[in-house]
Amino acid sequence: MKINENFLKIQNNYLFSDIAKRVAAYAAANPGADLIRLGIGDVTRPLTPSVIDAMRSAVDDMSDIERFKGYPPEWGYDFLRSAINENDFKARGVNLKDSEIYVSDGAKSDCGNIGDIFDVCNIVALCDPVYPVYVDTNVMGGRAGEFIGERWSDIYYMPCVKENHFLPELPNKKVDLVYLCFPNNPTGMAISAAELKKWVDYANENGSVILYDAAYEAFISDGSPHSIFEIEGAKTCAIEFRSFSKTAGFTGVRCSYTIIPGELERGGVNLGALWARRQATKLNGVSYITQKGAEATFSVDGKRQGREIIEYYLNNAKIIYKGLKALGYEVYGGVNAPYIWLRTPDKLTSWEFFDLLLNKVQVVGTPGAGFGPSGEGYFRLTAFNTLENTEEAVKRIAEI
Ligand code: MLT
Repeated sequence: MKINENFLKIQNNYLFSDIAKRVAAYAAANPGADLIRLGIGDVTRPLTPSVIDAMRSAVDDMSDIERFKGYPPEWGYDFLRSAINENDFKARGVNLKDSEIYVSDGAKSDCGNIGDIFDVCNIVALCDPVYPVYVDTNVMGGRAGEFIGERWSDIYYMPCVKENHFLPELPNKKVDLVYLCFPNNPTGMAISAAELKKWVDYANENGSVILYDAAYEAFISDGSPHSIFEIEGAKTCAIEFRSFSKTAGFTGVRCSYTIIPGELERGGVNLGALWARRQATKLNGVSYITQKGAEATFSVDGKRQGREIIEYYLNNAKIIYKGLKALGYEVYGGVNAPYIWLRTPDKLTSWEFFDLLLNKVQVVGTPGAGFGPSGEGYFRLTAFNTLENTEEAVKRIAEI
């Protein structure tokens, strides 16, 4: 018997578990400390009335012998796949089939699990800084090589820093799998259609596959593309991940969807068919109650109520952005995303700044170094707290 030794290579705990542990230790040592959590990107506003009504009525269905549901369809109920298609894609001029939409329990799971359908020898390109799930799951899957210095030997890193406006540059060699996330976690930057087109062309020319994480698309405020499928040519080179977590407050409910167009083939094999088979084998679908709640986010009232919550968070983002700028910080993001990415002051490392904020003013953020070596010297704050706490956090930061 041998374990998967790739797990032994992972350097630390999962970033957000590590932060939670440090914050818990601080809270235990300082009982009564009034912490403001702007660390993990977890929502705080309750589900909308439309979602709650739909879920209540779904619970009633489950109590009735005629309307009771057992196992859900493995790739999602038709009612939800069709509502997603109509509202998220057809409404933006993107023509997809409902069958190309695979409903699942989270974009984190899907981004991590997608590796199952790709060979271990593929070369993976990642933005740096990046959502740690892409790195860690490729380490577990044996695609990362060895950790040398601050980097994995087999991963192609694409630094996203101030000098390139936090946008990755096209690789100078052929890579097989390219993870892109826009609006970006952690930098909060969006990508224009013209920039995204360069990636689509690169992938089609090189036979690469783009794994496009669009979990934050609802926060786009400046006309940037919401889906990679708005870009011509993307159907032959991209897989897109979407989520109800940040758009509809479903972090605790769990519902997402992945789009794999029928045209996407490599080596004569349809990638959607592989994913369908993978999901049918390893996932028992998403509950009827959850999918009914998700469907309700697309009703007229559901959309309006959902939008109000996004605007609430965007207003928090603006408060942090403007507040820190006025204090002399170098600040990015916050316009098309719930994340504000700032330069640490006085050349502090990102973990030193984390400790300073926690110990001195009891504000929790996320150190940029946790997202990769190019995140050092930066720090992430989220807009997902209440308005009052957001204002208070900015006031406290002014005191350090
Ligand atoms: C984050 O803070 O980056 C998010 O919570 C990540 C996630 O959605 O898993």
